[in-house]
Amino acid sequence: MKSSSLPGFRDFYPEEFRLRQHILSGWREVARRYGFIEYDGPPLEPLELYTAKSGDEIVEQLYSFTDKGGRAVALRPEMTPTLARMVGGRAQSLPKPIKWFSVPQLFRYERPQRGRLREHFQLNMDIVGETDVAAEAELVAAAVDVLRHFGLDETDFVARVSDRRLVSLLLREAGVEDDRLREAISALDRSERQGDDWLVDRLTALGLGERAIERVLGIRERSLAELAREYGGSDEISDAIGRLQDFFRLMDAQGLADYVAFDLRLVRGLAYYTGLVFELWERSGRLRAICGGGRYDGLLAALGGPDLPALGFGLGDVVLGELLKEKGLVPEASERVDDFVIFVTAEQRPAAIRLARQLRERGRSAAFDYRGRTVGRQFRAADQVGASRAIVIGPEEERDGTVSLRDMETGAEGHVPLTDLLTEAAPPDAHPEPPPQEA
Ligand code: HAM
Repeated sequence: MKSSSLPGFRDFYPEEFRLRQHILSGWREVARRYGFIEYDGPPLEPLELYTAKSGDEIVEQLYSFTDKGGRAVALRPEMTPTLARMVGGRAQSLPKPIKWFSVPQLFRYERPQRGRLREHFQLNMDIVGETDVAAEAELVAAAVDVLRHFGLDETDFVARVSDRRLVSLLLREAGVEDDRLREAISALDRSERQGDDWLVDRLTALGLGERAIERVLGIRERSLAELAREYGGSDEISDAIGRLQDFFRLMDAQGLADYVAFDLRLVRGLAYYTGLVFELWERSGRLRAICGGGRYDGLLAALGGPDLPALGFGLGDVVLGELLKEKGLVPEASERVDDFVIFVTAEQRPAAIRLARQLRERGRSAAFDYRGRTVGRQFRAADQVGASRAIVIGPEEERDGTVSLRDMETGAEGHVPLTDLLTEAAPPDAHPEPPPQEA
């Protein structure tokens, strides 16, 4: 086979799959600890779900096509519109606040580069039906705890926090007309990658004069305290600042003050955010964002649903995986087989296969050599799969109803009746169901 996977798409060989599984099961564990429940939606959606409200950048990156029934469809590039639709459809009957999480695989036609591929897995945690800033504080704490769960701490990453409403109000104060606000915000977002000269050109193109542009550039460097002093006269701005101050107090109360930093340079690319926005970044800023989210109060109504407030974040597996590899936080291989059943002659093969089956029924993992190779080679095979125990059945054992045992770690050997071996092996109901595999 000469063909390779498409650019930006990954083959998950077992060692890569192990890291993916480690990441996804960690996500599920933390989300459940916060009382979120899991949901999923379709990977293919009507195109208009994204063209309506996600914003230009994501629409440019859509994998979209016309299906055989003539429908314009797209592979999901993000989960938020699906969530908004699903919650909207049942909003009346769901107790509020709704706290849901999901672990979708998402598709974006981006230029593949370090930390950005054309598919990725993304933990989404969202809260619907809550306006209190305590919801923001819980959500950012959850995102922080996801990274802490994997062994990262405040020296490795930081949550940069800003507020779309505050940025909009400050831009308006600086002289940006209302009908240009969206473009100005999108320019601010892109300026992180494009630089200040590019931003000045964009703002000039949006009709801003030199003084206004200087004010916009200046806003980005302000601390919350400075803003409170400068804009204390405006009720709306004071209100937005007060809310942010409450948020930081709640982070402090959770002992997470070192994980969060106010940073008005951040506005986020997606169009639907209406309040606090945040992103998690590796401290030095070398890597792309690990996580991003915020409040999006108007989205459910904009998609034709009830007018419910909402907030959430998406946290991807790509940058997180790179960071874990860099920091040596990827767990060692742990796949092992409990028992390897060895048969001495071809005559014992049916007995060996039967024994493997009985062990599996009791919840143990068991393997055997398909062909009757020499006993020495079967022991080597047991070693290769990391078996804890080798169980040997030869002609005498078969005749006497016994087995020989070897502890593969200590080398200790023994001889026991088959019935004892099976009684000792735990019954099936002593083993809880393994957690569900991700899609
Ligand atoms: P986003 O900022 O577009 O937000 O993506 C969130 C995270 O997904 C990023 O920080 C990054 O870790 C990961 N990610 C995004 N695109 C790629 C890519 N091409 N390759 C690898 N990783 C990627 C959203 O998607 C929002 N829907 C999040 C949200 C949920 N807001 C509210 N609720």
